[in-house]
Amino acid sequence: MSPFKYGCTVSDEFFCPRPELERRLAGHIKSGQHVAVVGPRRTGKSSLVLETARKAKGYSLFHVDFLDVRSRAEMCKRMVASLSRLEATDSWFSKMMKMLVRLRPTLSIDPRDGSPTICIDTREAAALGSLDCILDALVAQTARRKVCVVLDEFQDIMDLDDGENVLAIMRSRIQLDSRTPYIFLGSVRHKMLDIFLDSRSPFYHGAALFDVGDIKADDFYRFLCRRFAVGRRSFPRESFDAIAAAVRNTPGYIQEVSDALWQSSKAGDTLQVSDIAKSLDVIFARESEHYSFAIRQLTALQVQVLTAISTRGGKEIYSGDFLTAASVKSTASVKRAMSRLIDEGLVYFTDGEYRIDNPFFAEWVKRR
Ligand SMILES: Nc1ncnc2c1ncn2[C@@H]1O[C@H](COP(=O)(O)OP(=O)(O)O)[C@@H](O)[C@H]1O
Ligand SMILES: [Mg+2]
Repeated sequence: MSPFKYGCTVSDEFFCPRPELERRLAGHIKSGQHVAVVGPRRTGKSSLVLETARKAKGYSLFHVDFLDVRSRAEMCKRMVASLSRLEATDSWFSKMMKMLVRLRPTLSIDPRDGSPTICIDTREAAALGSLDCILDALVAQTARRKVCVVLDEFQDIMDLDDGENVLAIMRSRIQLDSRTPYIFLGSVRHKMLDIFLDSRSPFYHGAALFDVGDIKADDFYRFLCRRFAVGRRSFPRESFDAIAAAVRNTPGYIQEVSDALWQSSKAGDTLQVSDIAKSLDVIFARESEHYSFAIRQLTALQVQVLTAISTRGGKEIYSGDFLTAASVKSTASVKRAMSRLIDEGLVYFTDGEYRIDNPFFAEWVKRR
């Protein structure tokens, strides 16, 4: 079995310790300070926060992920499922069933891990007042015991039809819950800043910003060497540096390449820089169907713009040079294409340039 994990949160031996961040975050949890952890996807926000919250002595964990949530009903359902995981005892389930009786809860099994969970009917979940009822149940718990509340991909709430209203309801409850640490995580920077730094937002100044940055190269290198050593592979520093540079130090992508290197090597091997290209082929073989699917969802114009970013880079995309590279006639067309590419999460803007979010997808597009 591969000693590497990517595309999920990591814990225990799969988690490379980040002692400084863990210490600072643990301090915020203890003092009940609300924090907003903002940073690109796959940089280890969820893993860091969950690992730290799990280690916080005496705290129960309430974790709900709002990624791609489409309606208030779905949001309520996710929150109820998270509430039911606050404690793994029969008495807790019966208590929850009573507290949420208005929402007609039923016991069911979580298909992901077979654990018991509580479901609520979609119609009940969509009813006005159900969110208040769930927040009341949560706050009733935080008044009684120490709970660390983790709200993941929080910015996706803004995309609900009544997102502003939902945020206002949440803020009004959270405001009364001053001793409980609320940790808001978000991968879409501008949306998170709108929520926490715009004076018109209900969450204006509602949390201290917390940046996770990169995992220290020396620490991550040592961590990966130990993982490779489990299967007697040696991993020279220059191979690590080459991978890290290619994927802009993103831990999730570094682990993905490491896993591909692992799959295409055997005990006793040394993983050279020259092996990295081979590992990309492993990744393309695994992912090409997803990549082709993503491409098929786009118009010809959008594909041209995406391809131009992959070959030429995403600086000055309204220049004549870019238009030529993309074979596009007008800047208006580029603008239209970009808007869709950004909405789809394929491209994002940072440090004065547009970038393709996934570096492997970018390379695949470039080679097409
Ligand atoms: N501390 C860490 N140690 C080892 N790998 C990590 C660490 N943090 C992140 N990763 C890698 O990044 C991937 C994504 O982590 P995750 O916490 O889900 O990031 P985010 O929440 O920022 O999207 C993980 O599957 C793992 O491969
Ligand atoms: Mg996450």
